[in-house]
Amino acid sequence: MLQEKIKELKKKRNAIILAHNYQLSEVQEIADFTGDSLELARIASNVKEDVIVFCGVHFMAETASILAPNKIILFPDMNAGCPLANTITAQDLRDLKEKYKDAIVVSYVNTTAEVKAESDYICTSANAALVVEKIPEKRIIFVPDRNLGYYVSKKVKNKEMIIWDGFCPTHQRILPQDIIRLKEEHKDAKIVVHPECRKEVLDIADEIASTSGILRFCKEDTNKKYIIGTEAGLLYRLRKENPGKEFILASPLAVCPNMKKITLEKILCTLENMEPQVKVPETIREKALKPIERMLSL
Ligand code: 13P
Repeated sequence: MLQEKIKELKKKRNAIILAHNYQLSEVQEIADFTGDSLELARIASNVKEDVIVFCGVHFMAETASILAPNKIILFPDMNAGCPLANTITAQDLRDLKEKYKDAIVVSYVNTTAEVKAESDYICTSANAALVVEKIPEKRIIFVPDRNLGYYVSKKVKNKEMIIWDGFCPTHQRILPQDIIRLKEEHKDAKIVVHPECRKEVLDIADEIASTSGILRFCKEDTNKKYIIGTEAGLLYRLRKENPGKEFILASPLAVCPNMKKITLEKILCTLENMEPQVKVPETIREKALKPIERMLSL
């Protein structure tokens, strides 16, 4: 059986499997740890195994490579990219920095290593408002997610935010009218969404949180029914960890085709061949590490 073969080979290679909360349910099941971007970054920086099989999208495997340079980072499908991360290049960011010389750059973790290397701070959806709040300077360049930027600017006052116009196509497909219609049908449901959703969706939500923040909120909250505005993969853990509660996906279109590229077959293949690997070149890694460490120390 595929699962057994993966477990055997994982042992032989002294590997750990990390998976993002949006991965296919069978991938989440076989993973040693499933979490949001911040949790996965923290774990990657501390693993004892020689090999990390990273099940997520490319920038996440890069982040693991930046934090764990002595480990082999296996990434089962090199085509699993993040369109949001690809909305901004390092040159775009250099141009912005040139235009706003006094601004501090906060980049969402959904960026390439080259963009991270041009940044002062990295943030994730779990800590974006906290990171911006802690920065003493007034002017902030925030890239690349305009919706997360909007969410932060609503939470943190007294900042002048210059926000890049990028967005996640998967979250963009969740429309406010989808949620309003579901709410009419399920009046007792709470609306819980990810900050990458459109601002019209954020404005009608009861709770806005990272993927693991959504998991925590729904576990601790006393309500029994939730409309979930994020990628479909999160419903696997929500349902598994809360058997007495009901979770309704805000839109059937909220499926990230890149996250779904990682399959059990590809995980086995990557462990057999010890490739493809993600390795951030040392010159970029050194520069990209600083803003990530600044975030992790907060
Ligand atoms: P989280 O950090 O909330 O898991 O989100 C990562 C991501 O890429 C959302 O699209």
